[in-house]
Amino acid sequence: MAVPKIYIVGVGPGDPDLLTVKADRLIRNADIVLYTDSLIPPEIVAIARPTASLITTADKNLEEMLALMTASARLGLNVVRLHDGDPCLYGAIQEQMSGLLAAGLDFEVVPGVSAYQLAAARLRVELTMPEQVQTIILSRMSGRTVVPDDEELSSLAAHRSSLCLYLSAKHIAQVESKLLLHYPPETPVAICYRLGWKDEQIVLVPLGELSIKNQELGLIRSTLYVISPALMADTVPEEFGYAERSEFMREVGRSRLYSPEHDRLFKAI
Ligand SMILES: C[S@@+](CC[C@H](N)C(=O)[O-])C[C@H]1O[C@@H](n2cnc3c(N)ncnc32)[C@H](O)[C@@H]1O
Repeated sequence: MAVPKIYIVGVGPGDPDLLTVKADRLIRNADIVLYTDSLIPPEIVAIARPTASLITTADKNLEEMLALMTASARLGLNVVRLHDGDPCLYGAIQEQMSGLLAAGLDFEVVPGVSAYQLAAARLRVELTMPEQVQTIILSRMSGRTVVPDDEELSSLAAHRSSLCLYLSAKHIAQVESKLLLHYPPETPVAICYRLGWKDEQIVLVPLGELSIKNQELGLIRSTLYVISPALMADTVPEEFGYAERSEFMREVGRSRLYSPEHDRLFKAI
């Protein structure tokens, strides 16, 4: 008999239209859907069949969740555990996966669109803009979960890459002072609140005003911060503010891949 399988499914940052086809199919076929109601929009959970059991996990610990998942899977039910964004980023899935393996159950992880990807799309920027920046760092400020010393924010900031900070809203004053050690104060920062939700808010500020603006907006959670030279680009919608952004990007940042001089032979690589 086949080992029952459980699906750990990323559903993207909020907008149901950003569900993958696979996520959509798995939710529709699920007998039991586990999710955290503050992170997963009701429109996504509503895709499940009316007969599916919808179980919120906010009040459950890991052991209770695993017990529920394993018992349901052993009964032959389709078990789907939803995660916001992509499960591999700050999803606390490692302990779930190890627990399922230890219980002798098979599982599959289904990727989703992460918050930083929707942020880049909304901001209309290429986070790996030619000539300007070729590296993206996804990280967070140390908090209840301690960031290893080697990944301390000021050392990451020294790269001046495109930096996307998760889970950092409560520590934004520290974020600002650490980043200012390496990025100029006029570097644009996008404050992205609840991307893909109805109350989404995106504001662009100079790094030197990040903390004060964040405080003004009263943000303590569900916010992603994007710090990047790419935010100087003329494609960033003006409605997000910080109109004095430098214009120096207009003439640079062209990809060699599509330049007339580039040998077509290399294009396919
Ligand atoms: C526990 S982490 C989960 C990240 C998620 N797995 C992902 O790939 O986007 C939660 C943090 O991700 C960021 N985040 C997740 N969804 C977001 C959204 N819709 N808008 C803005 N930030 C979001 C925020 O920094 C939030 O504090």
